[in-house]
Amino acid sequence: MRYWAMPSLPSYDIAACRRRIPLLASAIPMNNCSQAPQTIDTRAAAERYLESWNTRGMDWDGWMSEIDLAKGEFARLVNADLEEIALFSSVSQATSAVASAFAFSGARHAVVVTEAEFPTIGHVWLAQQKRGATISWVPVRDGAIEEAEYDARIDDNTLLVSATHGYFLNGVTQDLGRIAALAHSHGALLYVDAYQTLGAVPVDVRALDVDFLVSGNLKYLMGVPGVAFLYVRRELIQQLHPSVTGWFGRANPFAFTVKELDWSATASRFDSGTPPVINAYIARAGMEVLNTIGVPAIRAWHEVLAQRLIDGGRERGLTVFGPDDVKRKTASTAFVAPDAHAAELAMRQRGVLASARGTVIRLAPHYYSTIADVDAALDALQHVLAGR
Ligand SMILES: Cc1ncc(COP(=O)(O)O)c(C=O)c1O
Repeated sequence: MRYWAMPSLPSYDIAACRRRIPLLASAIPMNNCSQAPQTIDTRAAAERYLESWNTRGMDWDGWMSEIDLAKGEFARLVNADLEEIALFSSVSQATSAVASAFAFSGARHAVVVTEAEFPTIGHVWLAQQKRGATISWVPVRDGAIEEAEYDARIDDNTLLVSATHGYFLNGVTQDLGRIAALAHSHGALLYVDAYQTLGAVPVDVRALDVDFLVSGNLKYLMGVPGVAFLYVRRELIQQLHPSVTGWFGRANPFAFTVKELDWSATASRFDSGTPPVINAYIARAGMEVLNTIGVPAIRAWHEVLAQRLIDGGRERGLTVFGPDDVKRKTASTAFVAPDAHAAELAMRQRGVLASARGTVIRLAPHYYSTIADVDAALDALQHVLAGR
């Protein structure tokens, strides 16, 4: 369907959504693949923590229940249970903790990693080489991964497949259900980085049959740096004992028994030190907004915006980097820009927040973005790249 045959508004009240984002009065945020804007709700959540700290001095019981509420909101987003969610400060930390739960010494020592991973994921798996892991790379060609590339690389030596759900450069998505089935048919596990898709693409960990799924919150989840969530499939939890650990991974962190390494019965065994409390307040508020609107409705609107970006970009002479099928990508669309960093700065001068990566400039609208926002961003990019 071409954009002139598409709806001009989403199924939810976009005007009401926009009223809750003060930044929209002065800018067009198209950088949701990097940092989503503040909402009245996320700001209120931060203030709620500051208020509790200020008026109660200390409220560990209240703060710990807020951590659980944040984990619960993440669980709701991916169709998991609260007991299957662990909390971290970054995706990198979560990935290191998962890696630390495996020995790479036996016959099963291979990790299959895609070249589309955000670099930090590659770094964590490469660091396991000194523990016996061998790494094999699934290649990216022309901005995407051919599904068949997995077939040749996953075998009975594969311990784990590490696959991003959405490619950070251009939003291209992968068929996780297919990768999970292939990995499982060889007795391997699937680790998914969904940072570029959660909040933008519906994700159901049970239907997709993934084993681990990780995400931070500052992109489509409308949150801040310093907090990330990890889903661990219930059946795996009891078998895993991460050596990256700490007192919050214990059965009862507040037992204060220094000589006992007991394990939480839930995914909390992956937690380590004092959690990022204020970040979790904000993360919960961000995820609540998305869960309330409903990610399927957001996804439908994203497809309209993505098609508009692709068609409108081409009409303006811009070059899309990677595949252009909106069913197989997020709304984040990458355009070739030789000096992308300079283009990002010049677009900011024109009131459009874009995100540069290498030689592409990414335009990533979200649930509150309008067709007019997309057109204005494309106009700004066209003018900037033409040096006007
Ligand atoms: C897909 C993806 N994974 C991971 C990261 C980084 O994760 P962290 O900085 O939380 O370790 C990013 C971007 O910041 C990303 O886009």
